[in-house]
Amino acid sequence: MTDSIDFRRYIRSIPDFPKPGIMFRDITPLLAAPEAFRAAVKAMADPFRDQNITAIAAAEARGFIFAAPLALELNAAFIPVRKPGKLPFDTKAFHYELEYGTDTLEIHTDAFEQGDRVLLVDDLLATGGTMEACVRLAEQAHASVVGCVFAIELTFLKGREKLGDHQIFSLIDYHDEN
Ligand code: PRP
Ligand code: MG
Repeated sequence: MTDSIDFRRYIRSIPDFPKPGIMFRDITPLLAAPEAFRAAVKAMADPFRDQNITAIAAAEARGFIFAAPLALELNAAFIPVRKPGKLPFDTKAFHYELEYGTDTLEIHTDAFEQGDRVLLVDDLLATGGTMEACVRLAEQAHASVVGCVFAIELTFLKGREKLGDHQIFSLIDYHDEN
């Protein structure tokens, strides 16, 4: 019963990790509780059940944890987005800005089929850089991005503003670092 689960109880908050002033939202207690994890995946799928999702794409590593069961739940293809040099076939890369420096994500050039309707998944929406890269990779591949779904959103970092008009759903919101 999804309605009866307070998912926030399964997130552990760890101060000053990975650096002072950052409150790390640790999903490992959720992953260790099968009933809550299963309910979380179902709740993340719910807003998209009637939207003919044909593919789920997610960036490693933590995105994969939610994306694989979501792909099975929605009977859709799972498409991995990976850090450079990990995918064996022809790839397309997207470079994006971090606070210090840049980062890169890659996808197989044949990842999407013509007409795919894609749901993008990650564990966490913070600044939005990672998900923006996933959106761009999918759009460059001419897939139709239906929406983005997250287990956790840090609303105060305004990551949504990077994600355009797509439908966005997050299971748990944090409005500050407390
Ligand atoms: C974390 C998290 C999201 C991203 C969110 O991934 O899993 O993917 O940061 O931050 P953003 O919205 O500011 O981009 P991280 O790069 O730490 O790596 P991991 O998933 O491999 O642990
Ligand atoms: Mg990640």
